Amino acid sequence: MTDTSLIQLEGIQKIFFTDEIETWALDEIHLKISEGEYVSIAGPSGCGKSTLLSVMGLLNSSTDGQYFLDGEDVASLNSSEQARVRNRQIGFIFQAFNLIGDMTVFENVELPLTYRKELKRKERKEKVQEALEKVDMAHRMKHFPSQLSGGQQQRVAIARALTGDPKVLLADEPTGNLDSKNAQIVMDLLGDLHKQGSTICMVTHDPRSALQAQRQITLFDGKIVDDQPTSNLRLETEVLTSLPS
Ligand SMILES: Nc1ncnc2c1ncn2[C@@H]1O[C@H](COP(=O)(O)OP(=O)(O)O)[C@@H](O)[C@H]1O
Ligand SMILES: [Mg+2]
Repeated sequence: MTDTSLIQLEGIQKIFFTDEIETWALDEIHLKISEGEYVSIAGPSGCGKSTLLSVMGLLNSSTDGQYFLDGEDVASLNSSEQARVRNRQIGFIFQAFNLIGDMTVFENVELPLTYRKELKRKERKEKVQEALEKVDMAHRMKHFPSQLSGGQQQRVAIARALTGDPKVLLADEPTGNLDSKNAQIVMDLLGDLHKQGSTICMVTHDPRSALQAQRQITLFDGKIVDDQPTSNLRLETEVLTSLPS
């Protein structure tokens, strides 16, 4: 049964089969995320965080289970229909930025829009401009990724994720390759986007980043072992970070 959640996962399983080894990366995941929520996903390395995000982002198919995105049964769509949903409804932000090196900042951000035949060149340009302004990178439009710092590249990648007005932003360790100052800029940016109404689901190792979200889900061995508001966790972290190391 579908409901009003933006994201609804029911009994999602993902098994990888390699050289006769079965890896149960996701094991019976039930998860609902509402529109406007900011959720962080935590858990040890290898517990299935990236797999969960890539299933939600339709970058990877599940082995079993149901996935409703805004009420649409997206797990059972064929691959070209899934590509359409991915292009229009999902914005993905990766740890390694994943910008295309021989395209300018403008072209990178424009790329997802070029698959939308109904958009005219002028409309695309306006959307790209708007997205780059949101991340404060419009002044670097003609630069190439290699001419930018890591933090700037990630801001461009966020603009690329935003430009098609997705229903949800999925970020996999978005600050994992950044120094603490740039990490803070990116976290502040995600916080602002959430305040403006974006639904965000972010994998992070960093407890401080996780606290910017409203809700934290913890995975272990492919299962959700904890799901609670971050207000419960704030005090714990304050105590831990005030201890001498
Ligand atoms: N493409 C793949 N092929 C085989 N096994 C994979 C693949 N991707 C991930 N896995 C395995 O699935 C499990 C979960 O991986 P992952 O989702 O990347 O974890 P995390 O992001 O939490 O570190 C790990 O055991 C990993 O080795
Ligand atoms: Mg990962």
